[in-house]
Amino acid sequence: MIIEIPGELERFGANIIYELQRVMLLDSGLRKKSPEKESISLPYYNISYEESYAIEEKMAIVVPVRDVPLKLIEGVLFAVPHHCEVIVVSNSSKEPADRFIMEKKLVDNIRKTTGRPITIVYQKDKKIARALKEANYTEILDKKGIIKDGKGEGMVLAMALAKISGKKYIGFIDADNYFPGSVHEYIKEYAAGFSISESRFSMIRISWYNKPEISRNNLFFTKQGRSSVVTNKFLNKLISYYTGFETEIIRTGNAGEHALSTDLAMVLGYSSGYSIETYHYISLMEKFGGLEKVPEKRVMNDFIEIFQVNSRNPHFHQKKGKNHINNMIKDSLKVMYHSHVCPDPLKKEIIQELTSRNALKKEEKLEKGIYYPPLSKLNYKAFEKNLPEELITTLKS
Ligand code: GDD
Repeated sequence: MIIEIPGELERFGANIIYELQRVMLLDSGLRKKSPEKESISLPYYNISYEESYAIEEKMAIVVPVRDVPLKLIEGVLFAVPHHCEVIVVSNSSKEPADRFIMEKKLVDNIRKTTGRPITIVYQKDKKIARALKEANYTEILDKKGIIKDGKGEGMVLAMALAKISGKKYIGFIDADNYFPGSVHEYIKEYAAGFSISESRFSMIRISWYNKPEISRNNLFFTKQGRSSVVTNKFLNKLISYYTGFETEIIRTGNAGEHALSTDLAMVLGYSSGYSIETYHYISLMEKFGGLEKVPEKRVMNDFIEIFQVNSRNPHFHQKKGKNHINNMIKDSLKVMYHSHVCPDPLKKEIIQELTSRNALKKEEKLEKGIYYPPLSKLNYKAFEKNLPEELITTLKS
């Protein structure tokens, strides 16, 4: 892959946020055959097939699922390179029809026919919940002692499982994607980002090239997601507040498609549901932004790199209504509003934004979100000891 070297960056304490990088060649071939550095006139990174492969082998791809048509899940799973591990976390309904059983059949079939490493877990599995309890990670459990609903909750579970499997990188891909080709591309971009990163704490976030929509009986290709456009605006304002310089650096506030090094996954804080991706940025600013009185030294002495990659394929997924988008915006802005890094003037603007969208009633208080501690808190020995043996075997295969 040939990818632009980012010219601009923003520093926020130990965090380095790079500007959006364009992909110039999706596949630049084998190392010995790929274009010589000297022959590329502009400032680009050239990541050979071998370099990409070496990263992908160490990567777990997590696919969160909740009631997505099997056809779509199948397309997504078939698009993941064979040498990546796959972890499907499903919170699909069991009634009236047992969707999870159907998904498990699909995954078992893929494992048998392709021989690839692939695991599926049920978010509401009592044994997994018990293992988390034994491992002292109880915040994610509800009153009944099972894992709470939510995409973020499924992702946190998957990251703990990826740690057990010994993977160095964890990438996320939504299951409701109609274009398997775009899934394949995102994973290549994760690998490219990790291969150019100089830190062991890194994150790659995808900003898709465009999203096709039907408008007046024609296809129209939108540039930014309906929730991202709002979240990005506020995240950029937050950075500007501290630096004193206006910025548009953040383009991936809600990036569902993102990957992070397992080292970074262990130290970040998490939040519930769809706010998780926005909270990545907030947690990075809170913990490693240099604003804490007692900074986390082991990370502050290093640095964190956040790459944003502009993919080439259009992103085409199941379209949800305005309410869903407004809820997503509300959840995202909520974690910003309740952060100690959010200044009062910005809090005021957040409330104005939400009331103007009718996502918040006048005089209504913006409730605090639900948060989960870093996964370094989890006792992995106890977790592994209490997980079903069959799951450990497939995770480590
Ligand atoms: N395991 C699990 N548990 N998966 C879930 C849950 C849950 O409770 N809820 C949703 N998912 C899965 C969906 O099945 C899908 O594969 C993925 O999470 C994303 O959920 P969607 O409901 O399809 O989200 P979206 O398409 O509106 O938004 C996506 O893109 C946004 C940026 O545009 C998400 O990835 C957002 O997190 C992201 O901000």
